[in-house]
Amino acid sequence: MKKINLPIKWKLTIWYGGILALILVVFSSGVYIYFRNSLERSIDAKIKSIGDVLSSSMTETHNQTVFGNFERYLENVLGRKPKGKFIQIIDSSGRIGAKMNDIETETVPTSFSTLERALKGEVVYETIETARPRLRLVTIPIMEKQKVSSIVQIGTSLEDFDETMRKLFIIMIISIPTSIGVTIAIGYFMAKKTLKPVDQIRKAAVKISSSNLDERIDIKGRKDELGKLAETFNAMISRLKDAFQRINQFSIDVSHELKTPLTILKGETEVALRKERDRDDYKNLLESNLEEIDRMSKIIDDLLLLSKAEAHDIKLNLEDVSLRDLVADVCVDMRIFAENKGIELVVNELEDVKVKGDELKLRRMLWNILENGIKYTQKGGLVAVSSHMNNGYVAIHVKDNGAGISQEDIKYIFDRFYRADRSRKRESGSGLGLSISKWIAEAHNGSIEVQSKPFNGSLFSIKLPI
Ligand SMILES: Nc1ncnc2c1ncn2[C@@H]1O[C@H](COP(=O)(O)OP(=O)(O)OP(=O)(O)O)[C@@H](O)[C@H]1O
Ligand SMILES: [Mg+2]
Repeated sequence: MKKINLPIKWKLTIWYGGILALILVVFSSGVYIYFRNSLERSIDAKIKSIGDVLSSSMTETHNQTVFGNFERYLENVLGRKPKGKFIQIIDSSGRIGAKMNDIETETVPTSFSTLERALKGEVVYETIETARPRLRLVTIPIMEKQKVSSIVQIGTSLEDFDETMRKLFIIMIISIPTSIGVTIAIGYFMAKKTLKPVDQIRKAAVKISSSNLDERIDIKGRKDELGKLAETFNAMISRLKDAFQRINQFSIDVSHELKTPLTILKGETEVALRKERDRDDYKNLLESNLEEIDRMSKIIDDLLLLSKAEAHDIKLNLEDVSLRDLVADVCVDMRIFAENKGIELVVNELEDVKVKGDELKLRRMLWNILENGIKYTQKGGLVAVSSHMNNGYVAIHVKDNGAGISQEDIKYIFDRFYRADRSRKRESGSGLGLSISKWIAEAHNGSIEVQSKPFNGSLFSIKLPI
């Protein structure tokens, strides 16, 4: 079977209208049936009470006197002339003894089976459907000395009853569809109004593409579920926009970083090729080219590591690493670098602790921080390494008395490709060192903090849990 895809507003309206129609029909039928039954019961009670009065008076009176003037007799017994009624007395042999008919109808047919049941002493109620108007008839046996002496029949016209029921039916037939119709119209209108933001969200989503992330849904201060949905949607677009911008910026930065060494490579090679040169010139050129190639491979290596880190594609090789050995090892390389630059590298007494970590990664992190300290400190400066324990973690401090970092720059130094002083470009690196270090610290559930002021040196603190 093919599934019909109705819009939600129609589904809501149909459900709403359907349930209301069901409730109304069940409720109205109940009212109709109850009303009809109680009217019928009260009619039956009325004719039965007349019959009871008659039958009790009949047993006391001699039949012949009764039949002499039946209407006067009825007036005497009932206290008034019975209006709109049919009354007849039948003797035990089935002969009609007396009769009074105040209904505009032909003689009431008395069925044989009714008389038979009455003769057995049973009170019989019946509705004569064939008569016009319809009649309700009660047949009551009159007992004398344990035997049925005669039968009294009281009938009443159902004209008023039928009319009342017909009016009630018409009222219901008109009011039920009308109220369902009105409710469906209101329901549809409300569903449409309520679901309007959904359509707005849909239209906004259609318009959004990577080049158009400024589209927002106007929610006009709605605080309900749809308002929240629109808000969530807007927030999602904002995040997408940020992500796209970052990717874009990232591509620009990567191209830029790789372009500089490539331009240098190209320029130097072109100049060298212009004329014949001697061996030493070629050697110098190749050495210079190698430097640029190294620079590019470092950038590419760093980028690869960061991308993998972001994609959670790196597994840490965890082992117990001695903090003292680690620092001592890194400082062997660093000391040469520092001495070349005329900077003193001081290693203070270090905590003798072991941290759970990936030794190569921790080494790389420390290397980056120390390298920065030396790189951004001028000749004759000082870089000092120390450590201290605090509850649950060890902090490695790398302090220098170099260039320092300004308040604006400090927010961004951990971002990829960010360099505080772009004029020192060649001397400084690509700006990936701190991003990598930060990732390594965080991958070890640690952190890196920095305190610095321009011209006042910097203090980098690496915190690692133990
Ligand atoms: N100890 C420091 N003193 C002053 N400035 C610093 C210090 N450490 C980092 N910075 C600033 O933060 C920037 C980012 O450092 P980061 O290590 O990420 O990049 P980089 O050193 O320029 O390049 P890379 O480390 O990738 O070779 C540096 O360019 C520098 O401006
Ligand atoms: Mg660096």
